[in-house]
Amino acid sequence: MPRLPAERGLTGLFLSFEGIDGSGKSTQARRLAESLRAEGRIVTLTREPGGSAGAEEIRRLVLEGATDRWSAETEILLFTAARRDHLEKTIRPALERGEVVICDRFADSTRIFQGLTRGDLTDTVNRLHALMIGIEPDLTILIDLSPETGLARATARQGHEMRFEDMGLAFQTAARNGFLALALANPARFRVIDGDAEPDQIAARIRQTIAAGLPPSP
Ligand code: ADP
Ligand code: TYD
Repeated sequence: MPRLPAERGLTGLFLSFEGIDGSGKSTQARRLAESLRAEGRIVTLTREPGGSAGAEEIRRLVLEGATDRWSAETEILLFTAARRDHLEKTIRPALERGEVVICDRFADSTRIFQGLTRGDLTDTVNRLHALMIGIEPDLTILIDLSPETGLARATARQGHEMRFEDMGLAFQTAARNGFLALALANPARFRVIDGDAEPDQIAARIRQTIAAGLPPSP
């Protein structure tokens, strides 16, 4: 597994979870954090949009309200602003302390949800990412699930953060296909895990998948 290049001066391990809404990312990110902590590792479990005080404020702006509240271009700016704050306040300090950072969504979500699902804005997303963020996770776990199952799970959960779920099945289908294409294009960073299984089974597969890249247990 690729490790963070030494020139970044970061010693920790940066893992991200990606997938469509309802794919089980949050459940599995939490389970992985619990199992690594049980082995004595120090883990920062965080999420996007959010993960720092400022980014959590931006989260409310992007996840609540009408589906047409923001254009895809405005969303790229808002998600990247949130990510920059998250990186400065939470992710980079934890990596500098040598911790394992587990992030529920990162820049791949912007590449897909803003870059692909409403016209091709991939180049804009990637340029802004290079300018303002500049790092990728060491390893990205893509939990793959059919959009029908994902939407059923996400809508059963309900709540007021439904702006993206409200964009419907075609949107989630485009997102699933986009994530799979991204994984194919970046095989060194991505591992695709089938999300249509029991949570215990999925957790075991993920734990096995990341084993090779973990630093020795303390
Ligand atoms: P995400 O963060 O990807 O949106 P969650 O982990 O929040 O997904 O899961 C969405 C819903 O589906 C939750 O109600 C959760 O309890 C349930 N869920 C998670 N994993 C599974 C699974 N493997 N099988 C069935 N239901 C699941
Ligand atoms: P999340 O809290 O992970 O929701 P869920 O648990 O339902 O998957 O993410 C909320 C929504 O934000 C999700 O629909 C995807 C969207 N999103 C983007 O559109 N772009 C981004 O860069 C990020 C991080 C999330």
